[in-house]
Amino acid sequence: MLDFNFSNPTQIFFGKGKIAEIEGKIPAGSRVLITYGGGSVKKNGTLDEVLAALSGHTVFEFSGIEPNPTYETLMKAVDMIHTNSIDFLLAVGGGSVIDGTKFIAAAAVFEGDPWEILEKHGAGVQKALPFGSVLTLPATGSEMNSGAVVTRKSLQAKLAFMSPSVFPRFSVLDPEKTYTLPSRQISNGVVDAFVHIVEQYLTYPVNGKVQDRFAEGLLLTLIEEGPKALKNPKDYEVRSNLMWVATLALNGLIGAGVPQDWATHMIGHELTAAHGLDHAQTLAVILPNLLSVCKQNKREKLLQYAERVWGIMDGDSEQRIDAAIQQTRNFFEQMQVKTRLSDYGIGKDSIPHLLEQLQAHGMNSLGEKQDVTPDLSRRILESSL
Ligand code: NZQ
Ligand code: ZN
Repeated sequence: MLDFNFSNPTQIFFGKGKIAEIEGKIPAGSRVLITYGGGSVKKNGTLDEVLAALSGHTVFEFSGIEPNPTYETLMKAVDMIHTNSIDFLLAVGGGSVIDGTKFIAAAAVFEGDPWEILEKHGAGVQKALPFGSVLTLPATGSEMNSGAVVTRKSLQAKLAFMSPSVFPRFSVLDPEKTYTLPSRQISNGVVDAFVHIVEQYLTYPVNGKVQDRFAEGLLLTLIEEGPKALKNPKDYEVRSNLMWVATLALNGLIGAGVPQDWATHMIGHELTAAHGLDHAQTLAVILPNLLSVCKQNKREKLLQYAERVWGIMDGDSEQRIDAAIQQTRNFFEQMQVKTRLSDYGIGKDSIPHLLEQLQAHGMNSLGEKQDVTPDLSRRILESSL
């Protein structure tokens, strides 16, 4: 029986030229801090467009938020907010900039040590500065959700927090702003969105027909459009479909009231923290092997996935499941994301450290049935070599 609460307060402005809309969404008289990454938005003109839209506002800039944003960098922005009495934030960039801005927004008004925000996964967050985003990389869904992932370099810890206080007030999704993405980031975005959908879909059936059909539609769209984006990077229709899929993949809608897995993500975060892999690379490595190791638990949904997403009808159920897992791996490889640890120079000797870190971060009972124990994580990692 489905039983859930669902709300999402983020307003979306989708389409060409929509950056102009932000002017009316940020209160007049605000002192606005624009946050961005390593400079892509400066090079491709997105920042200029944002500055033009905010010409009537008092604007400050904070740059240098790195991919997999670090606590160390973000705390510098918190200082800047206090020094300059900033009262509105605008993230311009990919998931890292938006996630980083969520942390900055919460940390700036947090009573106590801001590291607790991450240690307690958002439990103590009561409020945050208001913020919006201009998305330049469709992948994480951060533009319409209340989660963020931050790395503390000094501790090699990549931790997530969630809080209703850090939903963006609005997000601008202009597909043209994604034209300058390097192919590696196009690929990463498709794989990340794909795995977000799978983590909320490939669990066990609860007769959430809308959630299932919606998830399948999103997966099919990624399979259809992802390779096209690599071939024709300036195809607006392709880019807009990918952008909207990535947002809907993790804005709460398909996950409402259904079991969720997230073990692939949690194991993946350790791979990024220890070895610096891109987020999506970690997912491409872990997911196919997790599906194999956990196939008994996921049996019914794997069969549904095989039939409805990959059109696999032949063979006995074991063969259909294995074929669906193989298709998943093939799709990641087709998107040019490698699916073996050895492809990234990681060997068996790295596994004990990864398992220690998982346990240090309390990740001892992962998955939709909380039965992905450290022993199972070890099996997944060993089969990913
Ligand atoms: O830093 P700049 O110069 O802007 O360059 C970025 C960065 O190097 C570049 N880029 C972004 N837009 C561009 C562009 N280059 C050219 N043209 C553009 N239009 O792309 C690189 C990667 O950016 P990043 O923001 O790191 O990528 P992504 O959006 O994949 O974000 C990854 C982060 O999000 C977290 C991940 O763990 C990782 O830290 N996640 C956040 C989630 C959430 N909030 O719900 C869920 C996800 O599962 C994920 O964990
Ligand atoms: Zn992800």
